[in-house]
Amino acid sequence: MPEKKIIAVVGATGAQGGGLVRAILADPAGGFAARAITRNASSDKARELAKLGAEVVEADVDDAESLKKAFAGAYGAYCVTFFWEHFSPDKELAQIRAMATAAKDEGLKHVVWSTLEDTRQWVPLSDDRMPTLMEKYKVPHFDAKGEGNAIFTELGVPTTFLLTSFYWDNLIHFGMGPKKGPDGVLGITMPMGDGKLPGIAAADIGGTAYGIFKRGPGLVGQTVGVAGEHLTGAEMAAALGRALGQEIRYNDVPPDVYRGFDFPGADDLGNMFQFKRDFQDAFCGARPIEKARELNPSLQTFDAWLAANKDRIPVE
Ligand SMILES: NC(=O)c1ccc[n+]([C@@H]2O[C@H](COP(=O)([O-])OP(=O)(O)OC[C@H]3O[C@@H](n4cnc5c(N)ncnc54)[C@H](OP(=O)(O)O)[C@@H]3O)[C@@H](O)[C@H]2O)c1
Repeated sequence: MPEKKIIAVVGATGAQGGGLVRAILADPAGGFAARAITRNASSDKARELAKLGAEVVEADVDDAESLKKAFAGAYGAYCVTFFWEHFSPDKELAQIRAMATAAKDEGLKHVVWSTLEDTRQWVPLSDDRMPTLMEKYKVPHFDAKGEGNAIFTELGVPTTFLLTSFYWDNLIHFGMGPKKGPDGVLGITMPMGDGKLPGIAAADIGGTAYGIFKRGPGLVGQTVGVAGEHLTGAEMAAALGRALGQEIRYNDVPPDVYRGFDFPGADDLGNMFQFKRDFQDAFCGARPIEKARELNPSLQTFDAWLAANKDRIPVE
C-alpha cells in the first residue's frame, strides 16, 4: 500500500483545523494522514485527536523552528491564524510569514491557506463610508489575511486560497445568539439590511479543505470560496425560530450602531458586516455553494446545522 500523504494541520484543536483532522480520519482509505499541531499535546482536545488516530505534534506559530519541525516530512499543510486571540493584524501577518516560510523550507507540495478578502481593495482607506481602524485597515481581521496571500505567492509556496465564511457556530461561541429585546421577544442583531450573509458550519470549512487536498495540484494557485448557504438576517431568524420553537426576530441596525456596541472588536465586525452588505455580489459570488458542495458533499445547510446544534445555542 502506498504511504499516506501527511497533512500538517495548524489549529487542529480548533474549529477549522479540527474539522479537517476529523475529515481525514473519517476517510481511512483516502490516502491522507492527519498531523495535528497544538501548543499542548496533553490538553483534552489534543488527546482526543490522538485517540481518534491523529499524530499529535507540538508547535507554536510564533516559534519558526517549532513550525518547521512540525511541517517536516509532510505532503501538505493547513494554515490558519487566530485573530480573536490577540486582535492584531500585524501579528497575523507575522504568523502567515512564519507558516509560509516553513512550508517553503520543508518543500511542501500543497498548502491550503484559510484567508479572507483584503477589503481595502473595495473600500480604500480614503473612503469614509466606514472608519479606518488601527490606522491602516478597514476590516482588520479580513485585511491582514488578504494581504498575507501575497506572502505565499512570493515565496513560491503551492497554495490554494480558501475564502471562509461566517460561522453559524458564532451563535453558540461568539455571543451572537438570540437575545431578548425590551419587549421580551428574542432577536438576532446584524447590520446586514436585506443582504445575504454567506454562512457555514465551522467544521465544514475543514471538510472542504480536505476536498481540496484530495483534488490536488489542480487547485494550486486557485481561490476557492466556501459557504453552506447565503441567507438574509430575516431568513436566519426564521430558521432559528423554527428550530427553537419560538419567535426570533431579525434586528437590522445601522453599521454605526453596531460599531458602537460594547464588546471588543465591535468596530471591526461592524465594518465587516457593512462590507458584506454593500459588496454582496462580489462577496457572495466568491462563495458559490454548489462548488463547495462538490468538494465537500457533506456540507450542511443552516437547517441541518440547527437540527444538530440547537440545544447548544444560548438564549438570553
Ligand atoms: N468566527 C467566524 O465566523 C470566522 C469566520 C471565518 C474566519 N474566521 C477566522 O478563523 C480564525 C480562527 O480559526 P478557528 O476558529 O478554527 O480557531 P479556534 O477554533 O479559535 O482554534 C484555534 C486553535 O489554534 C491553536 N492556536 C492558537 N494560537 C496558536 C499558536 N500561536 N500556535 C499554534 N497554535 C495556536 C489553538 O490550539 P492549542 O491551544 O491546542 O495550541 C486553538 O485550538 C480567525 O483568524 C478568524 O478570523 C472566523
